[in-house]
Amino acid sequence: MENQESAEISLRSSRWFAATDLRSFGHRSRAAQLGYSAADYAGKPVIAIVNTWNSLSPCHAHFPERVEAVRRGVLQAGGFPLEFPALSLSEPFQKPTTMLYRNLLAMEVEETLRSHPIDGAVLMGGCDKTTPGLIMGASSADMPSVFMPAGPMLPGRWGNTVLGSGSDSWKFWDQKRAGTISEDDWAGIEAGIARSPGHCMTMGTASTMTSAAEALGLTLPGAASIPAAFSDHARMAAESGRLAVDLALKGRTPASFLTKTSFENAITVVMALGGSTNAIIHLIAMARRLEIDVSLDDFDRVSRDVPVIANIRPSGEYLMEAFYDAGGLPALMRMLGELLDGSAETVAGSTLGQDIASATVFNNDVIRPLDNPIAGEGALAVLRGSLAPDGAVIKTSAATEELLHHRGPAVVFDGYKDMKARIDDESIHIDANSVLILRDAGPIGGPGMPEWGQLPIPARLLKQGVTDMVRISDARMSGTSYGACVLHVAPESALGGPLALVETGDIIELDTKNRRLDLLVDEDVLESRRAAWKRPEPKYARGYGALAAAQITQANEGCDFAILEGAAPTPEPAIY
Ligand code: FES
Repeated sequence: MENQESAEISLRSSRWFAATDLRSFGHRSRAAQLGYSAADYAGKPVIAIVNTWNSLSPCHAHFPERVEAVRRGVLQAGGFPLEFPALSLSEPFQKPTTMLYRNLLAMEVEETLRSHPIDGAVLMGGCDKTTPGLIMGASSADMPSVFMPAGPMLPGRWGNTVLGSGSDSWKFWDQKRAGTISEDDWAGIEAGIARSPGHCMTMGTASTMTSAAEALGLTLPGAASIPAAFSDHARMAAESGRLAVDLALKGRTPASFLTKTSFENAITVVMALGGSTNAIIHLIAMARRLEIDVSLDDFDRVSRDVPVIANIRPSGEYLMEAFYDAGGLPALMRMLGELLDGSAETVAGSTLGQDIASATVFNNDVIRPLDNPIAGEGALAVLRGSLAPDGAVIKTSAATEELLHHRGPAVVFDGYKDMKARIDDESIHIDANSVLILRDAGPIGGPGMPEWGQLPIPARLLKQGVTDMVRISDARMSGTSYGACVLHVAPESALGGPLALVETGDIIELDTKNRRLDLLVDEDVLESRRAAWKRPEPKYARGYGALAAAQITQANEGCDFAILEGAAPTPEPAIY
């Protein structure tokens, strides 16, 4: 009670509720209209439950129930819970890509938190871009916040086959195109691949980013691995509500404890998990909101030292439920030992080392010891060279090893539509040695840098048994995808990066060991192509698309809007 009385003076929400002027009268009378009396809010931290749910958001289908659990926790701790719905970014349904809208969610969250009488927040997300979007927004609003991960869905099933989100869609789609499974088989897979609420249960972008959020210290310990359908998940939601009240009373914002070390720990965890390449873009964007210097080089450096020890698809064998049963992320982090810096603070005020001190590995095939990894080096490699002066990435742990060093002739597609129309055109010479190039798929070109980077292998090659090829694009790739796909080529082709100058037949060399990606064409030839190149017409003449095209940064910079980066103070709203 003592806490709450002193909080009444310092709480941000008291500017709205505790004054004696006409505006405060308005706020209190309208709170009364909502059915609240002073007993609900006076002197209590107002906790926003930021809920990225909508009716087409299967990964967050359990959020209406979880909101009640969070609300219960907030009330138990003496706070005043209020729900604020936010853009859902439903990965399966939102087009052209949720990535186009990550920054819109971040803007919405930042401005919602700042412009209302809110003292703290529980950020409910998990489907791919919701995690970075929520954290970027709350960080920029400088709001005491805890992230509540949605949790993975239960494993999929088709007969006796365990199905993993994404990965098995691509795998069986290729089998269908190769004619090795039937329409009935395909219908069975469709019915069985997503059987419960929760985000993708492979180590896709969702599991990677919620785990990164936990490694950063922005969740309760162990929160990211709990399957959405488990009762533990509801208890974690309530605990997140209780914690948010404490954070609000202490004014403990993300900026007050996140450091470069926190981000290095998150990068280490992403590598050990065999995580999604999307994490590179999101973690850079998140760090830049806090003016913490994280670059592609940090990922490459950490990658060289950290083995992949999570045996989870697409790099490994198991799914997230097995990972949770094996001890979950705290056990994996403990296994990493000195590769992590345990002194990093976490949201509740403890250190990462304290949070994982008692974690136990219950299955050392799922969470491998450091001397028996899935891959000896980390999951990702950062490439540079004449084709990618500002960088490109490849998920080495999910690529065919023989293709990690490859030289072959380019087959160029100008955008997804062109690729879809011609990939199976037998008049185009493509063989297993070819390098498939997709351009106009970057942050501006896509637009929004869609997950088109796992270009399909031509059906005739699939039928010959070809299962992987070198593919290069300025697109992203789903974290559940696999293959020798070079992604995030920067600068992108829509800005006239070297990818725009490649012609079919040009020789390309990928040399992952030496971190090189080169277009083996003479500079004078490239110069004449550059002189003839014309910037594509803008895709949007107005609206959010035009704003995004004008503001979005390149993949190596995090694809944030330039105007949203940095930590320059934003004034608190005046209350007149
Ligand atoms: Fe939501 Fe994969 S579709 S996480």
